[in-house]
Amino acid sequence: MTFPAHRPRRLRRSELIRRMVRETRLTTDGFIYPMFVCPGEKVRTEVSSMPGIHQQSADQIVEECREVESLGIPAIILFGLPTKKDERGSEASAATGTVQRAIAGIRKANLKLLVITDVCLCEYTSHGHCGVVEHGAILNDPTLELLAEEALSHARAGADIVAPSDMMDGRVAAIRRKLDDHGFADVAILAYAAKYCSGFYGPFRDAAQSAPQFGDRRSYQMDPANAREALKEVALDLEEGADMVMVKPALPYLDIIRAVRERFDVPVAAYNVSGEYAMVKAAARNGWIDEQRVTLEILTAIQRAGAGMILTYHAKDVARWLKTC
Ligand code: PBG
Repeated sequence: MTFPAHRPRRLRRSELIRRMVRETRLTTDGFIYPMFVCPGEKVRTEVSSMPGIHQQSADQIVEECREVESLGIPAIILFGLPTKKDERGSEASAATGTVQRAIAGIRKANLKLLVITDVCLCEYTSHGHCGVVEHGAILNDPTLELLAEEALSHARAGADIVAPSDMMDGRVAAIRRKLDDHGFADVAILAYAAKYCSGFYGPFRDAAQSAPQFGDRRSYQMDPANAREALKEVALDLEEGADMVMVKPALPYLDIIRAVRERFDVPVAAYNVSGEYAMVKAAARNGWIDEQRVTLEILTAIQRAGAGMILTYHAKDVARWLKTC
């Protein structure tokens, strides 16, 4: 008989004692705030499926970055919308591209922020796929050089960390080699290592205008049913020289975050993606859930699962809430 000697409720009696025995403390130290850069000037358009998130021109990005810095959020990740798309996504590596210009602006403003860039082609290609397309197939090896050039142009513009999200095999090695060959040995790679083919990216594709124009991404992004394969993907990216790895999405893949955390001794990031954000916003707007409570619960759960870094559209709200509670 363990009752009544064991009464776990003793440690839940007051907020003071609950705080003392709390295992996970949600902090903004590992937060990464995603931002969408579009061409033009003074442009700031809210993404309808992502309330509070905007497509904005480089000048506006710099303004929001000031706010992000003042909230104590350490990092942003930039996604670019080009002026025009083509078969090979050429604007991705243009020195005058939207992401490159935004980085320059942030650097000029001397903000204390880590600048991470998403390295992918889908926002820049006319077909919306993350690689070179020939006869309806997404080609792996010819894509690697384009991704490496894109990463190099981000490094030249002043990025601290590049984050390939395309899921082509061998891209981390190709990017690492290219960066090292051009004197950017200090630019780190955060690999979207276990990126699933997920329905939760829907709102992002509105924001980045990156929906595939034919077919889907099942031939390169991972099958949601697979967990062991995620460990293989992570192992390969680390072998190729990734400094940090990411699991994406976050909430439906907490088991993967936990497994990666336990197996590998590198920083693990999780991407709390657009669809996860949109669900919370939509339900809160209907008065069906308490937005603050649910958001804090979700982010605490992602951190508890083992993510030291979290990419989240909620970053600014959470930073404000944590300051006042
Ligand atoms: C680009 C990319 C995507 C996301 C991040 N980088 C979309 C996709 O793979 O289709 C999704 C992020 C989100 O949903 O918030 N490859």
